[in-house]
Amino acid sequence: MSQAPFSPRSRPLGFECYPTGLGPSRRAFLRAVAATAAGAATTGALSGCHTAPAVQDAAPAPAPAGSAADALGSVPVFPEGGFAEDAVRIGFNENPLGPSPKALAAIAADGLAAGHRYNYPETVREQIAAHHGASRANVLVGCGSTEFLQFLPWGFLKPGTTSLVLPEVTYGWCGGVAASIGAEVIRTPMGPEGTLDIAAMRAAIRPDTRIVYLANPNNPTGAAVSGDEIATLAEAVPEGGILIVDEAYAEFLPEDAVSLALAGGPVIVARTFSKAYGMAGLRFGYVVGSGPMFEKATGVWWGDFGLNTAAAVACGPALADREHVERYVRTVDDGLAELRAGLTGLGYVSWPHRAPFLMTDLGSEALPVVWELFRRGIYVQDGAGWGLPTFLRISVGLSEHHQALLAALREIRSA
Ligand SMILES: Cc1ncc(COP(=O)(O)O)c(C=O)c1O
Repeated sequence: MSQAPFSPRSRPLGFECYPTGLGPSRRAFLRAVAATAAGAATTGALSGCHTAPAVQDAAPAPAPAGSAADALGSVPVFPEGGFAEDAVRIGFNENPLGPSPKALAAIAADGLAAGHRYNYPETVREQIAAHHGASRANVLVGCGSTEFLQFLPWGFLKPGTTSLVLPEVTYGWCGGVAASIGAEVIRTPMGPEGTLDIAAMRAAIRPDTRIVYLANPNNPTGAAVSGDEIATLAEAVPEGGILIVDEAYAEFLPEDAVSLALAGGPVIVARTFSKAYGMAGLRFGYVVGSGPMFEKATGVWWGDFGLNTAAAVACGPALADREHVERYVRTVDDGLAELRAGLTGLGYVSWPHRAPFLMTDLGSEALPVVWELFRRGIYVQDGAGWGLPTFLRISVGLSEHHQALLAALREIRSA
């Protein structure tokens, strides 16, 4: 487990960080962790700096000497002093519609006054199980799906003698935890336009592999694979190992892996209320699975402590409000089309996938543009942390956000 020495040049791009043990403030630490939760990279994210155990030691991707990124330094994750009222927040794949009004009403009625009580998540587990046609024992709930990406590696990996396989460009949390544990992290190449190469992942699996991680659709590339492809990947997982299918953006899949996870094999599906349900700040996620490997996962689960009362109370109404979820999906589909057309009009090429964000290639280093956008109160992520320095990752927002972004890009280009 190597840790690159810290220097301004080895600073990762797009994320605040600081040398091991020398954090300037708890706030900066939390900001960096939040950035990771919102989409930090496998490649290069937060390398050379100490942020959270989850992300330290990711593969370094220092800014090339003499590059614009090297001269400019990383863009802060959050603006100093907080976001302005009219900030264009399209960097963290958040739901621009907010939570379901029914979930908010339930929180107001029952979620806060019971805050002095420890939470009892059995009802919530039952609600989620019913939603998936499963039983309570098939569901574990927690503080965002990140809770599971954080603790599952500790349950399945050991230093030196195990490995984790994941795509090279993906959501970095699990890989970061695996590296912290001292397990080998095996990153597999992407296909064209950020597609997921399942054959490459299968080929990379070794007898000592205990976790295979796949985000479907993938963050940040947006590409998705079919249920059949996931099944072939699951078949390659060795005895004692698991395939984590992270379905944070499940609503954009033609086919999810829940039935596979409920069939008793080594598949665990992670879901979140942060995206389609608009509850990122309420922190609520869960996993679904069955069979011996899920029992093992249950054995290392935190239990009741991960879930807060407000999120628990919101669960039932949020799940029941299908209209709100459908409105979100329509907002994303319309927003993707609007963004794609606008970016094409500016001469930028975007990847073609369906997810609540898109990758667009500016054709030259994106960081100076991200800085310019940041100064205008428009928040997107640059792709350098994922090894894609000419790309922006833009989250779908509302039309007014897209139009503000497109106008700013036009202005920046012609300056
Ligand atoms: C693929 C993926 N998994 C998990 C998460 C984190 O979700 P949660 O807010 O439930 O921790 C994100 C957040 O952006 C994500 O993109």
